[in-house]
Amino acid sequence: MPPELLALAGADLLSSADLSAAETLALLQLAAAIKRGDSRPRLDGRVLGLIFTKASTRTRVSFTVAMARLGGQTVDLNPAVTQVGRGEPIEDTARVLSRYVDALAIRTFAQADLEHYAKAASIPVLNALTDLEHPCQALADYLTLQENFGQLEGLTLAYVGDGNNVAHSLLLSGALLGVNVRIGCPGGFEPDAAVLAQARALAGGRCRVEVLADPRAAVSGAQAIYTDVWASMGQEQEQSDREKAFEGFCLNQELLNAADPAAIVLHCLPAHRGEEISAEVLEGPASRIFDQAENRLHAQQALLAALLGATP
Ligand code: CP
Ligand code: NVA
Repeated sequence: MPPELLALAGADLLSSADLSAAETLALLQLAAAIKRGDSRPRLDGRVLGLIFTKASTRTRVSFTVAMARLGGQTVDLNPAVTQVGRGEPIEDTARVLSRYVDALAIRTFAQADLEHYAKAASIPVLNALTDLEHPCQALADYLTLQENFGQLEGLTLAYVGDGNNVAHSLLLSGALLGVNVRIGCPGGFEPDAAVLAQARALAGGRCRVEVLADPRAAVSGAQAIYTDVWASMGQEQEQSDREKAFEGFCLNQELLNAADPAAIVLHCLPAHRGEEISAEVLEGPASRIFDQAENRLHAQQALLAALLGATP
């Protein structure tokens, strides 16, 4: 295990900003080595509990397969079949589960609930998506950029769409990695002001953090163009209002033409073809979307190996 990652054993990952720049980079390097087959960390006999209050395909399956490949296993603590769904306090649940499993990956709505679990638990707690952040996604996303461009520092990633959880983690990890991050979004859908301020502080003048209302200006000259759904889980009732607000923000071929000619296209998935991204761009030659989905598995193996203190 690289020295930057040894210190992470036992830590939580609640936000992308919980990692330092050196730790983020070291995790990406370890993920790339695991993907190449050059590193095979072991977590034999260790167990990761999954508490998922929202639907998931990629995160749930990639955590399950990551643990299996590391020699451990997962236990599905679906709130509908545990006392979690009947309102047992987080405080008690976290303390009990800490006696059974070695770490918890939690997907829920409020970041405060995730923080509550982490405070009460004596084991690492990982953010598997909240309304505020999606740090595991950002690790896979920057791994995808790294394998396409080599050096990350100095690249520009343009995220076009809602200033949501995915955008927040891209901002924070991007700032740590020296990637310029531009958010192109309609007024009223900007990223959280506190997250923007945090990203600017982390960037420390090494890279730029910008918010633009014009999608064309946002993607201009960028090496990676990213989008996500306009209505996230929990915002389904806002779908039709959001479709109107985001008119002109679809990542289609015309918008992609304003980017760097070698630009790649990313989307965390699931995607709504014809809304935030055209089918042509999603399936087109610039798309790295399915490599990106695969990279969830490699990035999370690296993350689990570090947080659970794997043997090399
Ligand atoms: N990108 C992502 O987190 O997908 P899932 O919701 O399927 O886990
Ligand atoms: N922003 C989306 C991401 C899904 C992976 C959501 O929260 O629903």
